[in-house]
Amino acid sequence: MRVNNRIIIFTGKGGVGKSSVAAAHALKSTGQGKKTLLVSTDMAHNLGDIFEVKLGREIENVRQNLDLYEIDPQYVMENDFEDIMKYLANLMSGQGMAGLEDLGMLPGMEELFSLLKILQLHENGEYDRIIVDCAPTGETLSLLKFPELLSWYMEKLFPIGKVGVRILSPISKQIFRIEMPDKHAMNDIEKMFLKLVELEELLKNREITSIRIVTVPEKMVVEETKRNYMYMNLYDFNVDGIYINRILPQDIGNEFFAEWLIIQQKYISEIEETFAALPVFRIPWYEEELKGEENIARIVRDVLTTDDIFEAKSVSDREHFEQTDTGYLLKVRIPGADKNDIDLYQGPTDIVIKTGNFKRNIPLPNILRDHIVSGAKYEEDVLRIDFVKGEDSDDQ
Ligand SMILES: Nc1ncnc2c1ncn2[C@@H]1O[C@H](COP(=O)(O)OP(=O)(O)OP(=O)(O)O)[C@@H](O)[C@H]1O
Ligand SMILES: [Mg+2]
Repeated sequence: MRVNNRIIIFTGKGGVGKSSVAAAHALKSTGQGKKTLLVSTDMAHNLGDIFEVKLGREIENVRQNLDLYEIDPQYVMENDFEDIMKYLANLMSGQGMAGLEDLGMLPGMEELFSLLKILQLHENGEYDRIIVDCAPTGETLSLLKFPELLSWYMEKLFPIGKVGVRILSPISKQIFRIEMPDKHAMNDIEKMFLKLVELEELLKNREITSIRIVTVPEKMVVEETKRNYMYMNLYDFNVDGIYINRILPQDIGNEFFAEWLIIQQKYISEIEETFAALPVFRIPWYEEELKGEENIARIVRDVLTTDDIFEAKSVSDREHFEQTDTGYLLKVRIPGADKNDIDLYQGPTDIVIKTGNFKRNIPLPNILRDHIVSGAKYEEDVLRIDFVKGEDSDDQ
């Protein structure tokens, strides 16, 4: 098992540069002598195009320490998870649903199996780093929806009553303090359940898995980026890096772009304010497409200049939402603030916190949009904001 075992997942809206940025990280990692796998879970694969090689359905080694892998979920389901697929097919026909061929119709099935494959590769311990290029957010039930997807599967596929407490594995011992029976005694349903629990734990393990968001300085993309980040936080994933791509050069010397420079600057500032707690990387807009290793290497040279970019940043001054008896509690770490100098504004979609030079824009999750701030307290570097349901909204 490799010790420096990391999974870095790149996510973001369609076309923002996820694949290019992920590929640049793979090059950087390989350059550091780390055994690296660059894997794409996007059905519209383009790693082969970027590296100008023809890829098949299996992992391909393209040079020392660099493997590429475009996951074909259908192939993975049939080849790597045959038992699980058989089990699912039985279960579905038992419930009057059609057989195996219809399994692809279940929501997020393909993404789920791509992630299970990544779990398996991680467990095999062959790589120092697994760099994941994701499908665009919003387009599929991507990683973003994984926790919802997981509970959907848990509910639909695992008749808990029948299986009983045996399936509650020691992996979840923080939650369930029940010992697991001998692994060999587990049946398929238990194995599948365990796999899903393991997968969730892997994705949330802050020392192993980092989520990095790629964005561009444009209104719609910035909005989606905030939403994406907010969900990731709400589900407690470790987002520890933001990449602003396609930044126009300042000295472009062309009238046409003058206004664009101003617009970009506005959104760059907005991103930097919203993500003040995270490392933010700026990537220039290059004069040509980033095709081929040579071009991708430009990002490495211009942006990925330090050696610590693969380390999991423990972003301790991030915000955190939790449910309370009366509504929700938002905790934001603001080290060393003066409690008499904290201003709080609630907008329709954001909470804005101002203190001294510090301004933080925190997008509110949908469920909180009809809530109002009922109180706030600053204690031990943490601002605690209570939300209760607004009076003019009713429970439906
Ligand atoms: N900074 C940049 N300068 C110039 N071209 C870029 C830059 N970033 C990305 N591109 C180009 O933009 C296109 C989209 O980039 P890329 O494929 O990396 O985005 P993506 O987010 O992975 O897209 P998709 O959502 O379709 O998977 C590619 O042709 C790429 O070469
Ligand atoms: Mg892509």
